[in-house]
Amino acid sequence: MPKEEFIDLRSDTVTLPTEEMLEAIRHAKLGDDVYGEDPTVNELEALAAERMGKEAAVLVPSGTMANLVSLMSNTKRGDLVILESEAHMYWYEVGGISAVAGLLPWPVKSKAGALDPLDVEAAIRPRNIHFPEPSLVCVENTHNRHGGTVVSPEQLHAVGEVARSHGLRFYMDGARIFNAAVALGVDVKEFTKHVDNLMFCLSKGLSCPVGSLVVGNRDFVERARKNRKVLGGGMRQAGIIAAAGIVALETMVDRLADDHRNSRFLAEGCAKIDGLSVDLVRVQTNMVVLDISGLGVEDALFTSKLREKGVLAGAIGKGKVRFVTHRGIEREHVERALEAIKDVVAELRSR
Ligand SMILES: Cc1ncc(COP(=O)(O)O)c(C=O)c1O
Repeated sequence: MPKEEFIDLRSDTVTLPTEEMLEAIRHAKLGDDVYGEDPTVNELEALAAERMGKEAAVLVPSGTMANLVSLMSNTKRGDLVILESEAHMYWYEVGGISAVAGLLPWPVKSKAGALDPLDVEAAIRPRNIHFPEPSLVCVENTHNRHGGTVVSPEQLHAVGEVARSHGLRFYMDGARIFNAAVALGVDVKEFTKHVDNLMFCLSKGLSCPVGSLVVGNRDFVERARKNRKVLGGGMRQAGIIAAAGIVALETMVDRLADDHRNSRFLAEGCAKIDGLSVDLVRVQTNMVVLDISGLGVEDALFTSKLREKGVLAGAIGKGKVRFVTHRGIEREHVERALEAIKDVVAELRSR
């Protein structure tokens, strides 16, 4: 089957740039951004800072680099960083938090992605000659491994209070923060006002080919710019990336609601299929995590059977399969995906 005929529900990172983005890239005014001379990058960074209600922003190539430069710019080597135990930074960023930033991650469990302030309080041990110094608390919003769950502004406020009362900084991996804002129908600043700094991605549901922004106060962003250079992330005519980012911020946020409606439709359809279970409470944005453990097969077998029927999904371990909706996935694709899921379940149950 040619690749473009698959219904690709593995991730929102597979989205391709829109025609408007390609036009903007073609016509972008460019300069050397390491000298601060790319007008399109400067425009995007100012726009991102304004949207997030912070003083400044810096463009980096990826979400992983955004998290890494943010860790490096919020801490000193040897510090302890409190984060949620299923966090992307902890699971999927190749241990850069320790290997590159020199930090000790201190994972704290949560029920659905939102840290309990009491657990954060308990994780902040008193200053003692034996202990590493805690300097940062991190949250992820929406929370990927918990199924795209939203950490509400109230929950952020409560954790932020604990962090601040102990003199710790508070950082948000907001790779999909616009999904959270659209899900609750509030301005993104309702979330960002509770954290000292954050990153968000252009290259996920917002459909850009590449790029993330690190956002915060001027001092922090200056350090982040320097740390980006340390990591080799200083880019030259980066306006070709920024041009698409401006289009994304101006035109691609509201449509995330379509992705949320489609994931809900998929989740409710799956919940009706015998042998599958879905925690519908966690289906809050553009992700659906199916529990296939009732079928007694490996999740990789399930996704390979689905692939034979033209549907791509992610095997995420422990009997779980993840589907992510995004631009390019319409209701009819979700309907076809549901039919394929039904067929695969029937086939596996009849073995
Ligand atoms: C929550 C979260 N943070 C960070 C990242 C890293 O982004 P990138 O793939 O651009 O490095 C991802 C990627 O999926 C993510 O889901």
